[in-house]
Amino acid sequence: MQIVETKEKLRQIIKSARQSHQSIGFVPTMGYLHEGHLSLMRRARQENDVVLASVFVNPAQFGPKEDLKAYPRNTERDKELMIKEKVDIAFFPTVEQLYPDGYATYVEVKGSLTQGLCGRSRPLFFRGVATIVTKLFNMVTPDRAYFGAKDAQQSIVIQQMVKDLDMDLEIVVCPTVREPDGLAMSSRNSYLSPQHRADAVIVSESLEAAKQMISQGERKADNVRITIKNRIEKVPDAVIDYIEIVDAATLADIKSLDGDILIAIAIKLGGTRLIDNIRIQV
Ligand code: PAJ
Repeated sequence: MQIVETKEKLRQIIKSARQSHQSIGFVPTMGYLHEGHLSLMRRARQENDVVLASVFVNPAQFGPKEDLKAYPRNTERDKELMIKEKVDIAFFPTVEQLYPDGYATYVEVKGSLTQGLCGRSRPLFFRGVATIVTKLFNMVTPDRAYFGAKDAQQSIVIQQMVKDLDMDLEIVVCPTVREPDGLAMSSRNSYLSPQHRADAVIVSESLEAAKQMISQGERKADNVRITIKNRIEKVPDAVIDYIEIVDAATLADIKSLDGDILIAIAIKLGGTRLIDNIRIQV
């Protein structure tokens, strides 16, 4: 595995991959890798000649009061895991490389896709994500880029951006990888105390309960929302950010459950933000 820290070195390597007509699969991450990230690398390995994964904790997607400084990092372990997954190129750029003094350009997906769900409580988040993903796509020139369904809104926003800006690549969205008890894997799970880690299962459990209700015939979004809310409120330290039931393509609120729907939840547990979602064909 080649470890690359500068844009210049990356450009050289990409150029030679392109000259030999090799396809490039790209997995952008913020590191502290877990099975969710690794599942994307495995999929990329199956579908491309060259697999490139990046690790960059992107300051532009953190709000002023968010966890940029505390975000977990373990570069050595990340490198070992990437080697195991047969990643060819590991890109670890620095903040100075990607946002040098005087940096001034941002990419913003406007409108309803970024206004609700995570966009409401994290107003700068998707602007930061769209900006860094554009920069990385420009540097890597991937044929395919891999994202997780765990961050459903992020995947949709990136698909919209790729379409709007005529970016010539395929976005591949891969299923959410979960712990044995159902908790969606996340680098942020490492913040949880043992009690909160045990309580965190409420998020996936309440999504499963919602799915069950719908399969038994419930068609009112409000009833599903109330069931989820009641379950989560039983956990003493859980603070609900949102419980949204939306159209899976447009993220528009829906009242009556029909078609391709997304149920998405964000809570805080002892200060740790947890998100999860489930997509259901009704
Ligand atoms: P990060 O949270 O590190 O996630 C990197 C990729 O892994 C994202 O596409 C995310 O959806 C996926 N992922 C995370 N947990 C997953 C799980 N349990 N199952 C499946 N996939 C999972 O998302 C980001 O970083 C950043 O916003 C980034 C896109 C890298 C831009 O900075």
